[in-house]
Amino acid sequence: MANILGVSGSLRSDSLSRRALLMGLEFARVRGAEIRLLDLADVALPMFRPDDRPSQVVQSVAAEVAWADAFLLASPEYHGAMSGAIKNFLDFHWDELAGKVFGCLCASHGEGQGAMDQMHIAIRQCHGWSLPYGVSVRDDDFDRTGSLKNPRVAARLEMLGRDVNVYGALIRSQFQVDLRDGRPDTFASRYGPAATRIDLAVPAQRLPPPRQALRNS
Ligand SMILES: Cc1cc2nc3c(=O)[nH]c(=O)nc-3n(C[C@H](O)[C@H](O)[C@H](O)COP(=O)(O)O)c2cc1C
Repeated sequence: MANILGVSGSLRSDSLSRRALLMGLEFARVRGAEIRLLDLADVALPMFRPDDRPSQVVQSVAAEVAWADAFLLASPEYHGAMSGAIKNFLDFHWDELAGKVFGCLCASHGEGQGAMDQMHIAIRQCHGWSLPYGVSVRDDDFDRTGSLKNPRVAARLEMLGRDVNVYGALIRSQFQVDLRDGRPDTFASRYGPAATRIDLAVPAQRLPPPRQALRNS
């Protein structure tokens, strides 16, 4: 079964997306998954600055990402988009997400479609595999004590926890076999760690020196 990292992208203490995430993780755990939580409200992940050396916090988050076979990403919908915290988390990672499965959760006042679509696009750009559905929650899905009262949402969370565990393990294990075999005709050899950075890196000599370009314009 899969190692699943839940990433909570709300910095609000009473976050609904975090509540849904914890339920999804628990549904995965009872089906045999190993689960961990990365709560971005507790972890002082800095803004991604490509020129900075990775701090200790960045390195420990990277270690959690490396541990995971699959992810549950939970975001509030902010201005029709995923939260800055989730986007910033994703910006730190790329080829280490390749071949890993993602389930997406969102809290919003509506359907959360904007945040959900954006998460799916970002995951695809990192060569991850999103489950083809997500779970969206809103405040009227919960009662006054904070317990989920909407059985339809509960059933979807159970399905998400089950699917991220089952497909997470399946896809990860095949990806690792393909990486080990080193066959050139596989997704893993094309997009797996190391291959990606080499293949997609823009050769430095093709870039104009930026200051020079500015002075000439
Ligand atoms: C800055 C901001 C922008 C928001 N934008 C949207 C939005 O575009 N669509 C929407 O349905 N809800 C929007 N909301 C409402 C939140 O999605 C909603 O309160 C959600 O429960 C927040 O997630 P959380 O409970 O996990 O913190 C916004 C809230 C804030 C604070």
